[in-house]
Amino acid sequence: MTEISLNILDIVQNSIQADAAYIYIEVDVNTNEDTFTVFVEDDGCGMSPEQLAQAADPFYTTRTTRKVGLGLPFFKQAAESTGGNFSILSELGKGTLVQAQFVLSHIDRMPLGDINGTITTLILFNQDISFRYVYQYNGQSFVLDTEDIRRTLGDIPFDAPEAAEYIASYLDENKRKVDGGADI
Ligand SMILES: Nc1ncnc2c1ncn2[C@@H]1O[C@H](COP(=O)(O)OP(=O)(O)OP(=O)(O)O)[C@@H](O)[C@H]1O
Ligand SMILES: [Mg+2]
Repeated sequence: MTEISLNILDIVQNSIQADAAYIYIEVDVNTNEDTFTVFVEDDGCGMSPEQLAQAADPFYTTRTTRKVGLGLPFFKQAAESTGGNFSILSELGKGTLVQAQFVLSHIDRMPLGDINGTITTLILFNQDISFRYVYQYNGQSFVLDTEDIRRTLGDIPFDAPEAAEYIASYLDENKRKVDGGADI
């Protein structure tokens, strides 16, 4: 994988697979602290302490179609290879929080990539899930909450072209306002 946004897509797929009704995603860039932090939190099925202990192990998966699960181990390795850190908190029946912190300026940190495209795709393809996305750049931030968008759009469903366009431009405009179009 070459972009952090694709890694985020992968981690959020786990939340979707865990039957989450609500998924919180935060991307936090701080040039002063030289950190790049990602949080993905869900209210899905969660993991037992045994599952959790093994979840970042590349040879552990509950998949039956393939032996090795790679989403979490890859994310962990990507963060740690920059001198950053990684953690997962999870409780059966409650949900899961994955946090990865990268050293922003480290040569091995992958670029963020098309995070707005990732968020738009997630929302459009999972209309039954409530998403809250926060993007923060040096303390300035914006929020996209699908429940607010549902209210704004009224009768227009998320899969209508106008809705997709609205979501994509909301993300683009706000991201540019917050980070001034910085190359991350
Ligand atoms: N948010 C989550 N909620 C509940 N269980 C999770 C969550 N994230 C991961 N898991 C558990 O940890 C395992 C490992 O996840 P990981 O993403 O590394 O691999 P995978 O999803 O099994 O396979 P892949 O991501 O390669 O398709 C999953 O099979 C699942 O059992
Ligand atoms: Mg996965």
